[in-house]
Amino acid sequence: MEVVILPTPSDCGRVVADVMAAAVTGRTADDRPTLGLATGSSPVLAYQELIRRHREEGLSFSGARAFLLDEYVGLPADHPQSYRSVIRREFTSHVDIADGDVHGPDGSHPDPLVAAREYEQLLRDGGPVAVQLLGIGGNGHIGFNEPGSSLSSLTRVKTLTEQTRRDNARFFERPEDVPRHVITQGLGTIGRAQHLLLTASGSGKADAVAAAVEGPLTASCPASVLQVHPHATVVVDEAAAAKLERADYYRYTLQHKLRHQPF
Ligand code: F6R
Repeated sequence: MEVVILPTPSDCGRVVADVMAAAVTGRTADDRPTLGLATGSSPVLAYQELIRRHREEGLSFSGARAFLLDEYVGLPADHPQSYRSVIRREFTSHVDIADGDVHGPDGSHPDPLVAAREYEQLLRDGGPVAVQLLGIGGNGHIGFNEPGSSLSSLTRVKTLTEQTRRDNARFFERPEDVPRHVITQGLGTIGRAQHLLLTASGSGKADAVAAAVEGPLTASCPASVLQVHPHATVVVDEAAAAKLERADYYRYTLQHKLRHQPF
C-alpha cells in the first residue's frame, strides 16, 4: 500500500484527480475506461478538479462508464440525497459522462435483496473497475461495509450504524430522514477493482486511517482490507495522517519517488 501525505485537502484532490485522469486518458472506443465513484465529502475536491480540467484543459471522459459504491434503500433515484442524484450533481453532469453510463444499485427496487444481486452481476459483467475511489468512515467503513463486514463480502443490503446515520444527517433535513438500510458493494466486490484509491482529510479520520493502514487486517476495520490488495493508494492530508506511526517513512518515499513511478 502506498501512503501519500500532503499538506492540504486541495493537494489531495489534485493527486486523486491525477490518478483518475490518467485512467481515462488515451483509451480507445473498444477499451472504455471504467471508474468506481464514491459519494460523501471526501471526493468532492477531486471531482471539482476533474471538472475544472474538463472545462479548461480538455480532459475528456468520453466513453467512460461509472459505477457507484452504494445507495440508500428507499430513496427514489431522483431524491436529492440519493447517491445517483448526488454524483450527477457533483460530478458526472459537469463532464462528458453520459447519464446512461452511470450505474448504481437500485435503491427504490421493491426487493432490495434482488437489487443487490443484480448490481453485483452488473459489476461482474461491466468490470473490472480500473480505479475505485473510496472515502473512509470514522469507524473504518468503506462503501457502507460497517465494522464486522466479511472481508470477502459481495454486494448486499447492510444496516447502517447509528453513528453513520448521525454522520450523514448533515445531508438531510431531519436526522430521522437518513435511511437505515443501504445497498453497498461488498469488500470482495471492491477488491476486484484494479486500483483502490482511498482519500481522507481532517482529524476526524485520523484514527480510522491509522487502523486501516497500520492496524491488523480485521473485519473490525473494513478499510484494512486495502492491506491485501495488490494496488492500493491512500491519499491523506496532514490532519488525517496525524496518527500514522510510519508517517516519516511515507513522506520519505514520496520525496524519493522514481521519475516515472506512477501512483
Ligand atoms: C460513500 C461511501 C462512504 C463514505 C464515507 C466517508 O459513497 O461509500 O464510505 O466514503 O462514509 O464519508 P465522507 O467522505 O462524507 O466523510
